[in-house]
Amino acid sequence: MDTVDAGPVGALRIAPSILAADFAALAQALHAVDAETDWVHVDVMDGHFVPNISIGPPVVSALRRASDRFFDCHLMISEPARYLGAFKTAGADGCTVHVEVGDTAAVIAEARALGLRVGLAANPDTPFDAVAPFLGEIDLLLLMTVFPGFGGQSFMSEVLDKVSLARREIDAGDLAVDLEVDGGIDRVTAPEAVAAGANVLVAGSAIFQQHSPLDAARAIRDAALAVRR
Ligand code: DX5
Ligand code: ZN
Repeated sequence: MDTVDAGPVGALRIAPSILAADFAALAQALHAVDAETDWVHVDVMDGHFVPNISIGPPVVSALRRASDRFFDCHLMISEPARYLGAFKTAGADGCTVHVEVGDTAAVIAEARALGLRVGLAANPDTPFDAVAPFLGEIDLLLLMTVFPGFGGQSFMSEVLDKVSLARREIDAGDLAVDLEVDGGIDRVTAPEAVAAGANVLVAGSAIFQQHSPLDAARAIRDAALAVRR
């Protein structure tokens, strides 16, 4: 199937993380928040790069039949190059790989060759310098605001300086790169991240673990819009 368009670079995007949703009812969980969300964030964990195992291409494939949204697949895996093709075939639109796994230039090139939108992620303690050389080659920079592996962790505000720095570099270079934050994003931290320059907000527990996921998503969007420059 054709790739779903991500929309204009730099626009505010709410990307609900299905990691926090009911795995037995993922399609319903997504549809319930459609009206207040934009992308779908799919967290893939291999039990090696991170100490947790989540889902893989078969689930992406099943969700693809249930949703026409942009699938933002976050690959927390040690050997992304081995699996990019499977995610593309399953229906991923964008794949984000971690800079910490290494061989970054080759992995980016492989994702590009497959026709994927390409993201590069950095852990909270990975310096901006590690991703800076690749800014001209990617479509999305993901700055983790928790250590990857689990949902429901607390937002690390110390990452905000890196978000600001990344925003300055993206703007200074006039680069077509979205700036995404992931981890501990809720109606309080979303505006902090947006004020620092983030434009894609991933939120798992602050949406799907709430009494009304739709209201929760709307609250995050409204809080973020209030500080958009
Ligand atoms: C963490 C994942 C996140 C996670 C976010 O390893 O990459 O996407 O699902 O969950 P919350 O929003 O609950 O911190
Ligand atoms: Zn994620």
